Amino acid sequence: MFKGKKIIIGITGSIAAYKIPILIRSLIKEGAEVKVVATKNALEFVTKVTLETLSQNKVYCEVFDTNNDYSTEHISIAEWGDLFLVAPASANIIGKFANGIADDALSTLLLAFDKKVVIAPAMNTKMFENFSVNKNIEFLKDHGIHFISPSSGSLACGTVGEGRMEEPEKIKEIIFVYINKPCDLLDKRVLITAGPTQENIDPVRFISNHSSGLMGFELARECVERGAKVTLITGPVNLKMSLPDIQRINVVSSVEMRSACLEHFEKNDITIMAAAVADYMAEKVSPKKIKKNSDKFSVKLVKTPDILSELGKIKRKDQLLVGFALETDEGIEQAKLKLKNKNLDFIVLNSMKDPGAGFKVKTNKISIISKDLSLVTFALKPKSEVAADIINEIVVSLKNKI
Ligand code: CTP
Repeated sequence: MFKGKKIIIGITGSIAAYKIPILIRSLIKEGAEVKVVATKNALEFVTKVTLETLSQNKVYCEVFDTNNDYSTEHISIAEWGDLFLVAPASANIIGKFANGIADDALSTLLLAFDKKVVIAPAMNTKMFENFSVNKNIEFLKDHGIHFISPSSGSLACGTVGEGRMEEPEKIKEIIFVYINKPCDLLDKRVLITAGPTQENIDPVRFISNHSSGLMGFELARECVERGAKVTLITGPVNLKMSLPDIQRINVVSSVEMRSACLEHFEKNDITIMAAAVADYMAEKVSPKKIKKNSDKFSVKLVKTPDILSELGKIKRKDQLLVGFALETDEGIEQAKLKLKNKNLDFIVLNSMKDPGAGFKVKTNKISIISKDLSLVTFALKPKSEVAADIINEIVVSLKNKI
């Protein structure tokens, strides 16, 4: 399962450290190479001899240890590893990593490492729920660090609650998925739109919709994790994401989204229009707040620019264009029409009729309709997994283009 994979395991001082030798043994058995970096406190819970025997490598614990293979061991180990797992991760190492502090071997190595990092926290429930720890975790997540949430159970301090490090088998399963993400979008540029647009009526009011932007953001994350460079054009959303290869452009209205799309479309190989662009906007935006002088009030609305149609018209043969369709009735026929009329390579259909699909939920249920009008329907899944299904289809379509 892990043949040829190089994994760095960072251990901090927590009772859960006793589980790490089991994890190392299991990873080695499945073909991985493992190097361990441990804090001084970690070695109070698990011995260096155990870790060195099981990992078949020296344990790195002192930046300036003359027994290190290289004087800049933190750089050579960082270059060596494919994935860095910190387990168990204390509040201290999370705080140091989030704040760029490098005062021991583990924290120094973390800052020198620029590939996939997975963190499995272990701490007392109150510490895990502490606002400051939470802020650090959220910050790291925003920067693409993957967290394995601790489970609930009895803790070493005698209390029961969230904070117990996930079991080694589960950690192994998660890092397996993460380390094996295919790099099939290497050298590809992807343009993704996300979220709603807001169309002003006056300085205080606007027309919009319930889109949270999550589907578009998950698509962006999936593309980056598979090696692409992403431009994410997003309407107003409450989501943060700053992975190294994402250029985020914030827009508000459909007109702004159109100009940003037209500016960036040409240089991209793949464009995914996941945004819920408002269909109508006020013909005239009142410069002053409209007063409620009468019982009835109407605004004259005009169509917003259909960005996807425009992109379909200027699309080159080597470019791939994907649209979304959110329908309430006759979904399949409507989506097929959009696919044809907007000159798309395929369209992703989600129906408001399916429970758990659409706006404001973390899951989605999609069907993909291809150019030849064939249809594949997927199960209800978290949007992160739906994103992977969509990108798999994109990779197949790209191959068929060549
Ligand atoms: N879209 C767009 N510009 C618009 C409206 C929609 O680019 N002004 C894109 C969306 O991002 C989505 C696709 O078109 O990828 C389908 O959007 P949808 O609102 O379902 O369809 P419409 O074409 O607007 O048609 P209708 O509202 O009649 O279903």
